[in-house]
Amino acid sequence: MKIKVLFVCLGNICRSPLAEGLFRHWVQEKGLSSYFEIDSCGTAAYHIGEHPDARSVANAARNGLHYDHLGRQFEPQDFMHFDYILPMDDSNYEDIMALSPVSPKAKVLKMRHFDKEAPDEDVPDPYHGGEKGFQEVFDMLKRSTAALLEYICKTQGLGK
Ligand code: 4NP
Repeated sequence: MKIKVLFVCLGNICRSPLAEGLFRHWVQEKGLSSYFEIDSCGTAAYHIGEHPDARSVANAARNGLHYDHLGRQFEPQDFMHFDYILPMDDSNYEDIMALSPVSPKAKVLKMRHFDKEAPDEDVPDPYHGGEKGFQEVFDMLKRSTAALLEYICKTQGLGK
């Protein structure tokens, strides 16, 4: 059985596909790809079927990360399919929790729960900001996704 991990933001073109790409990178680096199913989605329907925002992709490439994804919207069944769901901010958290079944399978934790520099802060939406915002988001997601993998490996007894 794979460990299923889902990253969630609003549009599924900036923050959550980048989190997915970074997490995939750490998983591959540790040789653990066969143990994981990894995905991302948005609470909104604006960007279904779209590739990630070109500014996010360019910024990630400058940092050495290449990734892709096609946008999809969060659906209530995700609570029963995934083991871990990581919303980027309070608004994403509240929007999905409003759709939660009584006993979801998934453990839902804000993405920066795993960021030692600012636990439980939001990953801010970089969509309407400048280049600095994309780099800040990259840095906080890099820290948070690495720590998430450490947490999952410890919890699941993986990669020892
Ligand atoms: P994301 O950013 O939630 O990090 O993908 C956004 C992308 C698009 C929009 C808002 C946020 N939008 O309003 O279209």
